[in-house]
Amino acid sequence: MSKIGQYFTPDNIAGYMASLFSISPSGDTIRILDPGAGKGILSYRLISRLSVESNSWEYEVTLYEIDKDALEKAVSNLRELASKLNLNVTIRAFCQDFLKSDGVNQFDDYFDYIILNPPYGKIPMGSDQKKKLLDRNIRVSNLYAAFVLLSSRLLKGSGELVSITPRSFINGTSFKLYRKELLHHGSIELLHSFKNRKIFGSVLQEVMIMKYVKDVELNSIQIRVSDSKPYPFESDTLASKEDVIDDSDFSIKIIDKPIIKLKETTSLGSLQISGAVDIYTGPVVAFRDAVIPASKDKKSEVVPYIFPRNFDMINYSVNWPLEMANKENFLVLSNSNLAKLRNAPIFVLIKRFSSMEQKKRIQAVLYLPETYQKKVAFDNKINVVEFKSWELLVARGLCMFLNSVHISDQFRQISGSTQVNVSDLLKFQIPKPQVLKKIGTFWTVFQKEPAVVDKIIFEIMGEV
Ligand SMILES: C[S@@+](CC[C@H](N)C(=O)[O-])C[C@H]1O[C@@H](n2cnc3c(N)ncnc32)[C@H](O)[C@@H]1O
Repeated sequence: MSKIGQYFTPDNIAGYMASLFSISPSGDTIRILDPGAGKGILSYRLISRLSVESNSWEYEVTLYEIDKDALEKAVSNLRELASKLNLNVTIRAFCQDFLKSDGVNQFDDYFDYIILNPPYGKIPMGSDQKKKLLDRNIRVSNLYAAFVLLSSRLLKGSGELVSITPRSFINGTSFKLYRKELLHHGSIELLHSFKNRKIFGSVLQEVMIMKYVKDVELNSIQIRVSDSKPYPFESDTLASKEDVIDDSDFSIKIIDKPIIKLKETTSLGSLQISGAVDIYTGPVVAFRDAVIPASKDKKSEVVPYIFPRNFDMINYSVNWPLEMANKENFLVLSNSNLAKLRNAPIFVLIKRFSSMEQKKRIQAVLYLPETYQKKVAFDNKINVVEFKSWELLVARGLCMFLNSVHISDQFRQISGSTQVNVSDLLKFQIPKPQVLKKIGTFWTVFQKEPAVVDKIIFEIMGEV
């Protein structure tokens, strides 16, 4: 990989992206933008595709690319195509930083079609790119989001944009303004998620194709999922906009099968609002706060320190202390870490990192500290649901539900990353407490045969 994020789009994906544009240009000259054009594969495939539809159109292609050699190649490829197919193609090639160029201002409300595979990566704070973007009121932290937003502003009304980018934009607060602006000025018509992360050769990245239409309001979104190639689709669902987009933060759910709506649900967030639980990420960071190994140092005052490795996924409980050598089991108390310790009768703990390949994306265990009075330290790689009172059946029911397929599905739909954030947890739709209690009575059945939990839940709750 080069420093400028140069991953060229495979030809089959470029062809598929080109096929997503609808053929209804408003004039005889079709204006196309390909920002971060590389060798021009995307605009090449788009023009090839359009030329099959009609031979009366003329094309004006605008390319932005900072790599001079790649840009020259893009121009010569497009010229070759024009002469091979006898097309009238005007090429404007800018060897410039797309995000910093003042020239883009001339293209406001200009393009019919925009096709892009932009660079990925953080925009350094204080950089010229960042300053220029702030001048344009583009407040995003990733290059790809800046490319897509700036491009979307250059689209005509009813103009179409097809991008391939990481799928991290679908949720989380750092992309909220990005989603808000896109959805305010148009609609997402299609999302195509690739399950396989090896789309661009050596680099592992979960990517997604988006088709966006400017100034048009659509009530449904086509959602497709495939492995590493566009075809065959593993699922192809037309979902209603209200099922896909959460109005509160514009987050997007990748609904890849008909949604099972269970009866009597509420959000985990509302359980927190009711005061029954407190939900947070473990406040202790091992390298900052003193930890000592299993051979407890008698001289210092210590408390149990719980890590993800203490999760016992056979009994859905916490295995502490671990007898292995060199495993820290305790946190040494100090004035600085005192405020980070917690005590409560019951906790449900959830791992903060989940792998994309895991079938069950959420892993939760029940933790009943032996001595309730004693404080406990939770590591930063754990999320915690702390129960304020002795609601054992509710906590068991919650732990079972969090390990069920219902939650795995919800998480896959709402999250584009491996990290499980508290903001994701708060959105989970869970059974109401009285229903959790009923589910919790099956705890020992669940411990013996975890797979039955999905059926138990379905039978207790029923479908709306
Ligand atoms: C992920 S590659 C994709 C290239 C091409 N669009 C494709 O699909 O094969 C992104 C391209 O953006 C270019 N690039 C990176 N930063 C840029 C910037 N600020 N302005 C214009 N181009 C940029 C890189 O040189 C690279 O060729």
